[in-house]
Amino acid sequence: MLSQWLKESNYTVVLTGAGMSTESGLPDFRSSGKGLWTKKDPSQIASTEALNQNVEEFFQFYRQRVLGLNEAKYHQGHAILAKWEKEGLVRSIITQNIDGFHTDAGSENVIELHGTMKKVHCQSCDREYGNEKYANEQFICECGGKLRPSVVLFGEMLPEEALVQAAEESEKADLFLVLGSSLSVTPANQFPLIAKQNGAKLVIINMEPTELDLYADLVIHDRKIGEVLKEIDR
Ligand code: APR
Repeated sequence: MLSQWLKESNYTVVLTGAGMSTESGLPDFRSSGKGLWTKKDPSQIASTEALNQNVEEFFQFYRQRVLGLNEAKYHQGHAILAKWEKEGLVRSIITQNIDGFHTDAGSENVIELHGTMKKVHCQSCDREYGNEKYANEQFICECGGKLRPSVVLFGEMLPEEALVQAAEESEKADLFLVLGSSLSVTPANQFPLIAKQNGAKLVIINMEPTELDLYADLVIHDRKIGEVLKEIDR
């Protein structure tokens, strides 16, 4: 059914979350028993408050994630989405992920809602560096300010341009496909609803139940995204 919908759709938009990258070896946040936030309180570690009040733990937490990211790469699921964009089956990808894997896999129209962990920038002078600064435990800018990953931290605004683009894409969608997100963080979890309100079919592929399952036209649980996309692509 889903491959039929994909072929019939004139404007398919995809929203991805951390579940899109677990098959690359990166942990997600809320998978029961193993997500990052099942061990740490995000507001205490992934926030501007932590950067100012708890800076050593902040630096070490994000250094570990940078090291993990730099060891990992995109998987077949990312590559299939990039192929579908070239075939005109997917128009855009709205992602909550900060790993850059959609772009690495060849997708071009990618909207990064939560920034990127491929770069860090100075909290004081905004100067940008590659994330190898964190890998090499260099946490201070030449100006003396603190370096932080160029991701959106809890308590920060999302990039305005990304929000506007994501809303426009969601309004245009006639098929909206969620891949690997618990849909528990706003405003990212509003885009499936915007699409639905504008007449789109909503499909959610996620190992565990999500907060928006009741609005979906099709829900696929307990399946790995990479395998499902491979089956549809046949
Ligand atoms: N196949 C299908 N689903 C998967 C897979 C997989 N291989 N791996 C994990 N999942 C599912 C999990 O069951 C989980 O429900 O992906 C979902 C990921 O949800 P979260 O861990 O909450 O990640 P996400 O929705 O992206 O979190 C949103 O929260 O902490 C912030 O900024 C962070 O962008 C993140 C945001």
